[in-house]
Amino acid sequence: MCGALRASDAGKKAVLMGWVNKRRDLGSLIFVDLRDRTGITQVVINAERDAAIHEKTEALRNEYVIAVTGTVKLRDASTVNKNIATGEVELVAEELRILNESKLPPFLPSDTALTNEETRLKYRYIDLRREVMQFNIELRHKVAKAIRDYLSALGFFEIETPFMTRSTPEGARDYLVPSRVQPGTFYALPQSPQLFKQILMISGFDKYFQIVRCFRDEDLRADRQPEFTQIDLEMSYPQPERIWEVVEGFLTAAFHAAGFEIKTPFPRMDYDEAIRLYGIDKPDLRLPPFTDVRECFTPENLQELAIHPSLPVVALRTPKVGELSRKERDDIKPLFHSKGGAKIFEDFKRIANKFPEAAAIVAKKTGMEDGDLVVLVAGSAQTGPQTAMPTHRKVTPPELAIYASAGLLRLSLAQKYADRHGIFKKTGDAAKDFRFVWVNNFPMFEWDEGDKRWNAAHHPFTSPHEEDMPKLETGVESLNDPQSPLSSVRALAYDVVLNGTELGSGSIRIHRQDVQSRIFRALGMSEEEARARFGFFLEALEYGTPPHGGIALGLDRIVMILAGAESLREVIPFPKTARAVDLMVDAPTPVSDAQLRDLGIAVRTKS
Ligand code: AMO
Repeated sequence: MCGALRASDAGKKAVLMGWVNKRRDLGSLIFVDLRDRTGITQVVINAERDAAIHEKTEALRNEYVIAVTGTVKLRDASTVNKNIATGEVELVAEELRILNESKLPPFLPSDTALTNEETRLKYRYIDLRREVMQFNIELRHKVAKAIRDYLSALGFFEIETPFMTRSTPEGARDYLVPSRVQPGTFYALPQSPQLFKQILMISGFDKYFQIVRCFRDEDLRADRQPEFTQIDLEMSYPQPERIWEVVEGFLTAAFHAAGFEIKTPFPRMDYDEAIRLYGIDKPDLRLPPFTDVRECFTPENLQELAIHPSLPVVALRTPKVGELSRKERDDIKPLFHSKGGAKIFEDFKRIANKFPEAAAIVAKKTGMEDGDLVVLVAGSAQTGPQTAMPTHRKVTPPELAIYASAGLLRLSLAQKYADRHGIFKKTGDAAKDFRFVWVNNFPMFEWDEGDKRWNAAHHPFTSPHEEDMPKLETGVESLNDPQSPLSSVRALAYDVVLNGTELGSGSIRIHRQDVQSRIFRALGMSEEEARARFGFFLEALEYGTPPHGGIALGLDRIVMILAGAESLREVIPFPKTARAVDLMVDAPTPVSDAQLRDLGIAVRTKS
């Protein structure tokens, strides 16, 4: 291979095949950089010695595929290239064959400046020849293999589940596949193997995993693709801690395979605690948590600042950002998406001038050091924050509004001033700072402001906490009441979060048919509807279902973080654009009338 030859090979014969990365013509000597997946070797062609080779070499262009036979030779000390592994040697060509020609590609794999992403995706096969893409795809392979090996060694079976199936419960939208044999009926591509993996527990395969493609027709972002890959697993009889241990184990193996060592066990945090300390359920622990500094101020101070005395005063510290200029302080205001009622104090110096004693305690409590930026977020004395958000167990709606606003501000500031604090850097020590956390005890139900109703926060097969079960018997009217007792039902659900990204979600499942029916009732689903959608599953639950639970992690997201990439598209060989289009094959496309007729489908334009 083109990355294999070393000084110790000098004098040996070698045959190399690959792409012409570059050709330099120095008259009597021609140099060709020959490239494959493993690297680049310099080939030297002595034009004077062999006219036939010389002629062929003249014809070579970038990305031609050639085979060269020759002798490995040490380079002169002055021409050694320390930047490449083969840099001490060159291959002196004795025979050269052009295996295939190439048109001039729209960009070259060796180009340092990147062309626009559309061109990269259209000519993905050229893009994938680039060193960084070859690295990312290899990394993906290594990570998947490490996980597969780890789980197999623990006694997990990798079991395939169908792609042509029926609607799954994740709540996002299904991709449908029409049936030709039964016109008018459709399969759905799985949004996850959720019900199949639960059925595998009922079937007696007590440890299942699958590295599996899932499909979701949802709005796309940098960390979402319509087709993505889950590391999906399920176990019988586990406590959540057992599942966390398995996940920590395979992540350690995966990160090790990528050249990083991580520490386990990961810290654990209640959902409520995450909200109170970070204002979000996927906290980025690389940045300091909030400090409630209400107590640092006297009631008179608070009054003078027009701050609500019975709501938290959140201090958020962003390290090493320095004092903000007047313009920068003005810039913060639009970053602050508060929906009225919450106040922001972005000029800590002013507070310190006015209330030196209080400010000194704030500085101490937050661990403020020279050059740190401290911003306060508090409730306005007049109104307090207004929000339609429902009551959560421990955090009240006005508190939640302050925490959530402060949480957004915390991330926006950290991103805006990333070059000053360096915490988000993708190189050096910062790139190795992997802060994992388990967020636990999520609320079972989520308020949908659009539909004005409660939905399952994870999915309706998640088990509620035993002690919250009585709250499920609330009656239908409660489903549309933001203050319903459903708001405080906790789920045995957990997320694993890395540096502010949700890597995976899972839960202990309901294994009793009567509890499952109660959950469907609590969600306002009639017996008939539940039977129609999930009848096969409800029936299966009645045949000796062991207690079980599991989790699924996004493989693409893990590899994206390990690769230091900004988008999932950098770690998926053939990804889709933000409009869910594959630019290389040009999909989706309309299909012929004949095909539609065969399927019994008529296309209507969307109104
Ligand atoms: P959930 O829907 O949270 O859980 O998905 C689990 C993980 O899959 C990844 N993920 C995605 N990655 C890329 N693009 C997407 N569109 C996308 N959607 C999800 C995320 C996410 O954390 N059946 C449950 C799991 C379970 O309960 O066991 C499920 O699918 O990293």
